[in-house]
Amino acid sequence: MYKVLYRKYRPRYFADVIGQPQVTETLKNELASDRIAHAYLFTGSRGTGKTTCSKILSKAVNCLDPHNGDPCGECEICRGIDDGSIMDVVEIDAASNNGVDDIRLLREEADFTPANARYRVYIIDEVHMLSIGAFNALLKTLEEPPAHVVFILATTEVHKLPATILSRCQRFDFRRIAPQDIAARLEYVCEQENVSIDREAALMVAAVADGAMRDALSLLDQCMSKSHTITVDVVRTTAGLADRSFLFDLTEKIISNDAAGAVEIIDSLYRESKDMARLCTELCEHFRAIMLIKTVKIPQNILVMSESELQRLKEQSQKLTLDFTINTIEALQASAERMLRGANRRIEAEMTLVRLCSKGFGGTAIPQNIEERLKTLEHAVTQIKAGGSTGAKPSQPHISVSPPQKRPSVEEMQKLRSEAVPMAEWPDVIDELKKTSLTVATSFAGSTAYISGQYVLIDASNDFCFELLRESGFRKKMRDAIRLITGKEYKLGRYSYSEDDKPADDLARLVSDLKSAGIPVEDKNKN
Ligand SMILES: Nc1ncnc2c1ncn2[C@@H]1O[C@H](COP(=O)(O)OP(=O)(O)OP(=O)(O)O)[C@@H](O)[C@H]1O
Ligand SMILES: [Mg+2]
Ligand SMILES: [Zn+2]
Repeated sequence: MYKVLYRKYRPRYFADVIGQPQVTETLKNELASDRIAHAYLFTGSRGTGKTTCSKILSKAVNCLDPHNGDPCGECEICRGIDDGSIMDVVEIDAASNNGVDDIRLLREEADFTPANARYRVYIIDEVHMLSIGAFNALLKTLEEPPAHVVFILATTEVHKLPATILSRCQRFDFRRIAPQDIAARLEYVCEQENVSIDREAALMVAAVADGAMRDALSLLDQCMSKSHTITVDVVRTTAGLADRSFLFDLTEKIISNDAAGAVEIIDSLYRESKDMARLCTELCEHFRAIMLIKTVKIPQNILVMSESELQRLKEQSQKLTLDFTINTIEALQASAERMLRGANRRIEAEMTLVRLCSKGFGGTAIPQNIEERLKTLEHAVTQIKAGGSTGAKPSQPHISVSPPQKRPSVEEMQKLRSEAVPMAEWPDVIDELKKTSLTVATSFAGSTAYISGQYVLIDASNDFCFELLRESGFRKKMRDAIRLITGKEYKLGRYSYSEDDKPADDLARLVSDLKSAGIPVEDKNKN
């Protein structure tokens, strides 16, 4: 009988569980020194190993011959638990046994000492499904657990658990598994199954699975039923991923200001009955990917695509500035919204693309030709040396360069930080910012801010939002939002220590000012 891959390849030892060292290493260490808790809580996104680890743990606490915290898998207890003949390990699906009576029954049973094993282990899967009464009954047992009982609670929805339960469990958070780790495991599985798979195809399966190993193995299963040589094309057709070359083509048209070419592509897509709202969202995702490539160090951890697509996208992203990219995303989002509100989709799509292709559209695409680039740079430099704003060059209507702004020194920054007080209006500022730039506003989700002298110092854990603030247009939107809310003009700074604290040398400062003026320059200091 055929056994589905994700069952066949369920890890039997902690050592085989991938991508969760914060769980497996900790548990192994604790078990190796015989520190066993009475209640464990396994939480985190689906298909990442919660049930798997519950089973391993139930064996590890009972195994007759454990190795460094891992069960041996061979002794009578391990085998008995595996084949279900040892009744001391009980798995309860809380989705179907969620009543108070189910838990009362369990409590009565738990009082008896185990028949064969050292511990009675109750694995309560999907524990968030318990009724309130059942939670209360469970709580009583957790408050005074019999010495021979171990509870393992597993759930994807930890926020649905009462705090009283949470506080009595040792909690472990399972993370989404990194695409590279998933791909490596898929390659291992394929090797065992005598199936060939390219690295790129494995990565694509991983990307579609979005961090869930079970989903990755299910998709691999489906691919294997189609072919025993798994390529990107096999994965693409199996997963129903469309060929995305038209997105690259459309973007090329935008880069080369070829409105007629863009409209032609739209026309042919329309005739293939492509939904225009879908097109708009896909193009938006394409530009989001470009934005991430330009800002994140290892974009492949976030992006769902094959290696060759990523390469192609990287090349394309070099022809676009971050400013332009973000403005494009905003334009596409607005357009998608208008489509949903009933605008004629085809006309809307055409209008938006024509606008994106026009030379005057938000920010500059990077001029292709190096001479043209040098000329712009020289022009701006002479203007700065002359000490004033540049007159705009005809092909670049919005340039105005201010002389380099003096940055505070490291000492000044430290002083500013030591005097900073929390800014209560910060959430209002972010709300205000949503009106002018949703992208910037969302990137500051979860941040806080402080006021110190003339500065608003922002504290955010992601570098991406600071990267956005390097663009003059977004910096202005942020300052405007702050002014509207506080009624005062503030300078912007970063609260936590960063590379930015180093005083920029003249060249770097010049480059950064040219960039914020929208003049494309290569910044050799970056990356
Ligand atoms: N970290 C992992 N390492 C290796 N394989 C894994 C891992 N996580 C999941 N798997 C694979 O996926 C299958 C399902 O995993 P498991 O049942 O443990 O997920 P889960 O976290 O309990 O998911 P759910 O929240 O949907 O219940 C396993 O049988 C195994 O094949
Ligand atoms: Mg599970
Ligand atoms: Zn054993």
